[in-house]
Amino acid sequence: SPRVSAHLAVLAGDGIGPEVTAQAVRVLRAVAEAYGHIFELEPALVGGAAIDATGAPLPPETLALCQRADAVLFGAIGGPRWGPSDKVRPEQGLLALRKGLGLFANLRPVTVNPRLAAASPLKPELLAGVDLVVVRELTGGLYFGEKRRDAASAFDACVYTVPEIERVVRVAARLAQRRKKRLTSVDKANVLETSRLWRETAERVVRTEFPDVALEHQLVDSCAMLLVTRPAAFDVIVTENMFGDILTDEASVLAGSIGLLPSASLGEGPRGLYEPIHGSAPDIAGKGIANPYGTILSAAMLLRLSLGLAPEAAVVEAAVADALARGVLTADLTRERPVGTEEAGTAVIHALKRLA
Ligand code: NAI
Ligand code: MG
Repeated sequence: SPRVSAHLAVLAGDGIGPEVTAQAVRVLRAVAEAYGHIFELEPALVGGAAIDATGAPLPPETLALCQRADAVLFGAIGGPRWGPSDKVRPEQGLLALRKGLGLFANLRPVTVNPRLAAASPLKPELLAGVDLVVVRELTGGLYFGEKRRDAASAFDACVYTVPEIERVVRVAARLAQRRKKRLTSVDKANVLETSRLWRETAERVVRTEFPDVALEHQLVDSCAMLLVTRPAAFDVIVTENMFGDILTDEASVLAGSIGLLPSASLGEGPRGLYEPIHGSAPDIAGKGIANPYGTILSAAMLLRLSLGLAPEAAVVEAAVADALARGVLTADLTRERPVGTEEAGTAVIHALKRLA
C-alpha cells in the first residue's frame, strides 16, 4: 500500500480494556514500522474511567477527538463500581459515541480457527469453513422506540424508516461484494410490519444497486437454528437491532471464546469504531491474563475499513492465526500452560514481522 498518515483515537476504558488495547496498540505500531506508515495514536478517557476523572462517561474532548480522528480503537467499559441504578453509567459513553459519530452498522465477523474447534461446544465437523459476518442495525427498532409504562401494562415501539433500512443494507451488500457475494437478510416478515418494510427495502436496494449479490430472506427463528446447525452456509447476514443483538451473541459461541472476536461500527464515511465484542471482564481484570486477540483483530478491521490498508489487515489476521496455530493460547482457550496478555501480543508481533 502507499504510505499512509493516520490519526487514531485510543479509548481503552475500564477493566481489561486497557490491557487488551495496549497489545493492539503495539501491533499497530509494528504495522506502521513494517510498512512505513505514520500512525498518531492519541489516548482519551471513556466509560467509568472518564466518570471517575470528569463526572461524564464521554467527556466533550473525547468526542471531539474521535470526530477529528480517522478511526477509534475502543477497549471495553463498565464494571461493578458503577451500579445499574447510578444516574451516570459507563455504557452511556459508548451509546453517546455511536450517536456522535453517526455509526449505524455493527459488523461482527466470526471465523473458526481449526486449532480451536475443540474450545467450541459445537462439533468440529459443523465448524469447518465457518466464515461469516453479521451486520446489525444499531440505531433503530425496539431499543430506541418510544417506551411507556403504567401500573398494569408496558409498551415498547418498534420503528424503522426506509432510509434507516437502506443505509445498513448498503453496508452489508458492499461487504458481500468483497466476499462470497451472498447476503442473507433476516426478519420476522410473517408477523411484524417493520419486518415487511425491511424485506421489501432490502429486496429493492440489492436488486437495483447490487445485482451481483445473491440475496435471500430468512425468518429470525430459522436463522437462529441454522447458525448452529449449518453455520458454514452463511456469508453476510444483515438484520435489525434486536435480532442482531441476539444472533451476534449466538454466533460468537462458534469461535470458542468471546475473547477472540472483533467488531466494527460504521457510518456513512470511512470513520469507524473498532472494539472486541467482550466487556470489561471485571473477574479477570488486573491479572494480565485477558485474551487480546479480539482487540488485535479489531485493529485489523480498522486498517482495512477505515484506512484502506487491506494487505496490512490480512497480515495482522494471518499473524494472529499463526500465534494460535503455534499454541500461543490465553487462559480462556487452554488449561495447559496458558500465556499472558502481553506474551500473546508479542507472539503476534513476531509473526507479523516475518509475514510483512
Ligand atoms: P464480559 O464480556 O466482560 O465477560 C464475560 C466472561 O467472559 C467473563 O467470565 C470474562 O472473564 C470473560 N472474558 C471476556 N473477555 C475476555 C477476554 N478478552 N479474555 C478472556 N476472558 C474474557 O461480560 P460481562 O461479565 O457480562 O460484563 C462485564 C462488564 O462489561 C459489565 O459492566 C458490562 O456492562 C460491560 N460490557 C461492556 C461492553 C463494551 O464495552 N462494549 C460489552 C459487554 C459488556
Ligand atoms: Mg449484546
